[in-house]
Amino acid sequence: MPDTRTPPDPAEFPAADSLPAQATFLLRYAILAPSSHNSQPWAFAVADGSILVYADESRRLDVADPDGRELLLSVGCAVENLVLAARRFGLDPTVEYGPFEESPPSPGPDLRHVATVGLAATASVDEGAGETALFDAIGARRTNHQPFDDRPVPGSVLETFREYATASGLGLELVTDPARRAEIATLQTRADERQFDDPAYRTELGHWIGTGALGASWLTARVGQLAVSHLDIGEREGRKNSKLVTSAPVVAVLTVATVDEPSLLAAGRLFERLSLAATGEGLAVHPMSQILELDDLRTELAGLLGLGDETPVHLFRLGYAEPDSTRTPRRPVDDVLL
Ligand SMILES: Cc1cc2nc3c(=O)[nH]c(=O)nc-3n(C[C@H](O)[C@H](O)[C@H](O)COP(=O)(O)O)c2cc1C
Repeated sequence: MPDTRTPPDPAEFPAADSLPAQATFLLRYAILAPSSHNSQPWAFAVADGSILVYADESRRLDVADPDGRELLLSVGCAVENLVLAARRFGLDPTVEYGPFEESPPSPGPDLRHVATVGLAATASVDEGAGETALFDAIGARRTNHQPFDDRPVPGSVLETFREYATASGLGLELVTDPARRAEIATLQTRADERQFDDPAYRTELGHWIGTGALGASWLTARVGQLAVSHLDIGEREGRKNSKLVTSAPVVAVLTVATVDEPSLLAAGRLFERLSLAATGEGLAVHPMSQILELDDLRTELAGLLGLGDETPVHLFRLGYAEPDSTRTPRRPVDDVLL
């Protein structure tokens, strides 16, 4: 099994080679992106000086994510890694969203073309805007499921987060008030209890655990799958996750004015940018999606945060924590290149 989790050595970028060879190299960074249940719902093709990005609907979480919100966020994360890698190697990437349908060389309706990353050569490597630091964090970034320390996140980091959100035209709520976080923790408990009450939700989660996507060895993965599929663990999960929320000094919520495909891709890109910035600062990040997977609880969260017309589309904990040793695998580039 090739080690697809370790990023390539930047010194090995095939600068003198053809675009397809360069694109294949860049994609080794794209696939290190986070994705819900590590579903890696992406595929790519190289054509006419561009990388075409596809959303793989066959990998959508039909129960947890029937609308494909998390799927597009995940693809957006991969796009951001691709853009950062392209800039790092002296290319000048442009991103265009759409056409949001099957288009060549897609082999069928499950693969929808959602973005095109144009790759033009520029004279020099872009060292600006701290982007090299973001690129350097791609290999080290991990989701951290541990309780977080009781240590505040520096205001300068939160300021950088706000600047990134403003630059991408999206909303970002950074909840630090303990009373507010406790209210979100209560929503988290209710969400977990409801989700784990649903046999279809448990079976879907069990399926992804069983594939080893969430980073366990084969045997542990099977035991985990059985436990999730058959035991009533909603209450336990609810209590555990509620404590995780209250342990975090910051609960961050990404919001959009209109929930459509371009804004979800953009939100994914922003989330990955924030995750990489956090990684570079030694901070831990942990998305928690259950509240947003239930329409009524998502509406309650929006009310709690006073979001008005904005819709929350992604929620994650931010803080300091012991490293999480979980190492989630990746599908090799060959498997996701059309
Ligand atoms: C849109 C999205 C939603 C996610 N939701 C959750 C979640 O609810 N709970 C969780 O523990 N991790 C969540 N994750 C993290 C993924 O499980 C994680 O990215 C994946 O397993 C790969 O592991 P890595 O991030 O350590 O590389 C989410 C990630 C994304 C991109």
